[in-house]
Formats: sequence, C-alpha cells, structure tokens
Amino acid sequence: MTGGALPRKVAVVGAGDIGCGWAALCASAGWPVSVFDASARGLERASQEVPRRTRALVALERATQGIVERGLLEFAQARSLLQAVQDADWVIEAIPEDVIAKQKLFESIEQVAANDTLFTSSSSGIAPADVFARCRRQDRCLVAHPLNPPELVPLVELVPAARTATSAITRAQDYLRSLGRMPILLKKPIAGYVVGRIAASVWRQCIDLVLQGVIDVDDLDRAVSLGPALGWAAAGPHLTYHLAAGDEGVTVFLQQLLGSFEGWWAQLPTWHKLEPEQQRALIQSIERAYRGKIPELREARDRRLSAILRALEQSRTT
Ligand SMILES: NC(=O)c1ccc[n+]([C@@H]2O[C@H](COP(=O)([O-])OP(=O)(O)OC[C@H]3O[C@@H](n4cnc5c(N)ncnc54)[C@H](O)[C@@H]3O)[C@@H](O)[C@H]2O)c1
Repeated sequence: MTGGALPRKVAVVGAGDIGCGWAALCASAGWPVSVFDASARGLERASQEVPRRTRALVALERATQGIVERGLLEFAQARSLLQAVQDADWVIEAIPEDVIAKQKLFESIEQVAANDTLFTSSSSGIAPADVFARCRRQDRCLVAHPLNPPELVPLVELVPAARTATSAITRAQDYLRSLGRMPILLKKPIAGYVVGRIAASVWRQCIDLVLQGVIDVDDLDRAVSLGPALGWAAAGPHLTYHLAAGDEGVTVFLQQLLGSFEGWWAQLPTWHKLEPEQQRALIQSIERAYRGKIPELREARDRRLSAILRALEQSRTT
C-alpha cells in the first residue's frame, strides 16, 4: 500500500474498453470516479459497463462487495469535460490512439483541471512528448499504459517524458500500487514501449507460423499459453534461461544454446505489413478456431486470468 495520499476523485476521459476498465478498477477500490465520453452512446454504455465490470471483480474474487458498492455509489457519468475533471486529483485519458486528438484533449483538460492534478495517458505506444506536446505543464504528465483488461492485468507501463517531474512518477506509482497494480518504469521512451514491442514481435512470429501452414490457430495459441507464456508467468525470459542450464546459470546456457538461437534469429520473419489477403486468411483461421460468442469467450478468459493471478499471489515469496 502507498504511503502517499489517495486521490479524492479520479476522472476517466474516454469510456471505451480501456476507460471502462480503469473506471471499474478505481470503483472496485472504493474510489470516487467520474467518466466522460465525447459520444452520448459511449457514456450510456459506460453507465452499464462500469458497474457490470466492477461487480464482476467480486465474482472473480478480485474485490470485496462492500467496497465495490461504496465505489459504485460514487461513480458518476459527467455531462462535460469540466464536470469530470473538476476536483479530480488524477485524470486518466483513454480516447483512441490518435496523437492529434490526444494533444487537443490534454490542452482542454489543462484549461479546466486544478493545478496539482496528475495527468496520465493510456496510449499504447505514442511518445509521451508527443501526447503532451500542447500542455504547458508537462511536469505532471506521463503515460500509464495498462494491459487489457486493466481491472485484471496488474502490469502498467509508466513512460515519462523528458519534462515529467520525479514527483509525478512517484505519485503515479503510489496511486497504481494502491489499486493493486504493478507499475514498471521505462528509463527512456521508445515507440510501442516495452510491452507493445514484445507483443508485436511474438505475434508476428505467431501469425507467420499460421499463415505458412505450420500449425493451426488453436494449437499455436496453446503453444504460447502453455509453453513460454506459462513459464514466463512464473519467471521472465532471462530468469527462465538463467535457470535452464544447471547451476552455472546463463553463462552455460549461452555456451550451449546461443548458436541455436542465432540460427533461428537469422530465419525469423521480418515483414512489417499484413496484406489484405493475409488479413483475410488470418481472420478466417481465428474465427474457425474460436466459434463461441465474444462475451462468453471473454468471460472464460477473465476467469482463467483471475485464477492465474490468485495462484501467483498465493505463491509469492517476496
Ligand atoms: N484496447 C486495448 O487492448 C488497449 C490496451 C492498452 C491501451 N490501449 C489504449 O487505450 C486507449 C483507448 O483505447 P480503447 O480500446 O478503449 O478505445 P475505444 O475506441 O474502445 O474507446 C475510446 C472512447 O473514447 C471516446 N472519445 C473519443 N474522442 C474523445 C474525446 N475527445 N473526449 C472524450 N471521449 C472521446 C470514444 O467515444 C470512445 O468511447 C488508446 O490509446 C489505446 O491505444 C488500448
């Protein structure tokens, strides 16, 4: 838990998948949260989605009912940006990945927010200096990139800009830890940040194997989920390899296997565009593999995710 003060109110701007997830997470901790969306339909959807996703956390044993209901009593849909942002100590932006739209939004937020409000962007990969380019006070701004769904996956990437103050980073870390998140800090901005780059490189290889006819989508997904990803959930790739060659650790691992890896690296796909016919083939293969309805598939995924999180928490030693 944090030693710092908790926010009196959080404002979430943009009530899509990610905004609703942030709002559900804050409400599940009993924090007052106000949501604003530029579209009336978006706001209407949030009024259903946020309570649904917040209460789902109780069923998934990720939150307690009393706190959730207290948080939901203070969950509000704002009719304007001003109404959402005023009195908020933390503004979370979650509008689409469009740099100009984000710049304009933060310019407007700055005009109505209090002086000491923290601003974070949910961007998945845009340089923070670009996201906050139109803000006069960039010292209180940084990217806090969640993973989907934000109310379940604990990792959040913090990506400060050159002008972000250390105190803003610390404050974001405190808030996120109070929400049970695990913030990681990038030492310098890089396109796609760290998580996006890892996901993009693994996914390109996965797509390539499917499109080349090496393996079907369902077996490929199993190969990742029950193969490297299962191991990586217990120990990241470097620790995994450090433990993979006896007691001598990574030195021996490199002696034994670097040559093989170098051979494979030389053959990995390097394409950076998926042509329309390849997109069609990929969509067809995925839809053939997963015929269920999306909400049901998502619910089952969330059940597995919370079971994994529970197991990890129970076995945590540090
Ligand atoms: N979807 C993911 O898996 C994921 C994961 C991590 C981060 N992100 C990032 O989070 C952000 C939001 O993604 P999403 O998937 O929730 O998008 P989305 O399209 O589902 O939702 C965006 C919402 O923002 C609203 N909006 C658009 N312009 C607005 C404005 N100026 N003011 C207020 N509301 C506005 C839209 O009406 C919409 O409801 C993006 O930057 C995205 O890259 C997405």
